[in-house]
Amino acid sequence: MNKQGDVIIALDFPSAAETYQFLDKFQEEKPFVKIGMELYYAEGPQIVREIKARGHRIFLDLKLHDIPNTVNRAMRVLSGLGIDMVNLHAAGAILMMRAAITGLTRDDGTRPLLIAVTQLTSTSETQLRDELLISASMPETVIRYAKNAKEAGLDGVVCSPLEAAQVKAACGQAFITVTPGIRLADSAADDQRRVTTPAMAKECGSDYIVVGRPITQAENPVVAYRRCARDFIG
Ligand code: C5P
Repeated sequence: MNKQGDVIIALDFPSAAETYQFLDKFQEEKPFVKIGMELYYAEGPQIVREIKARGHRIFLDLKLHDIPNTVNRAMRVLSGLGIDMVNLHAAGAILMMRAAITGLTRDDGTRPLLIAVTQLTSTSETQLRDELLISASMPETVIRYAKNAKEAGLDGVVCSPLEAAQVKAACGQAFITVTPGIRLADSAADDQRRVTTPAMAKECGSDYIVVGRPITQAENPVVAYRRCARDFIG
């Protein structure tokens, strides 16, 4: 398992063609990339195999959430694609998370990093209380779900850089925080509400930053990527 921090580029493209057009710009480095539902459902597992064959590390952001047996079997398939990181919803509870780890573990004992989504950042306190009937506050819920993930043996959580310190305080420094909502000082916030620069994310203790549009929509994506990497990794 590679727990070393890095910049992960979110490949939020609708097709393989557009994805390769973007990746072809990177001649010198092989960035760690995130494949989400849109691209995976459009192109299937072949897109993962091809990007892996090009030499990139891959975070497969499919957020699994089902009964333990189904998640176990699905994770076994995903692990076989050679991915480096994958995630699930901590709302599936500890037994499901343990089943996921068993499914991910390859015959040689290696496995991709497994990261939990606690509460989606799009969920409000009102929705939590009135629709989901969860009476604990959002921060309490996030920390409890992170602790459940730790107890199940997961490697970390997806969270805001602004939550990273609390997660580390509750779950230990070695527990990984993967943090989206990153913007360069001069880039647009888009639809993100609370944004953090790569340097601020580093200060907050993020282990991996996930950066989409500030790199994918930049005039020169390679320059934007290098700026993020320099600010975050040093
Ligand atoms: O373009 P942008 O940098 O906002 O992309 C961020 C990426 O991180 C997107 O793929 C988005 O789905 C993902 N993400 C997020 N906020 C979360 C979880 C995932 O922005 N809470």
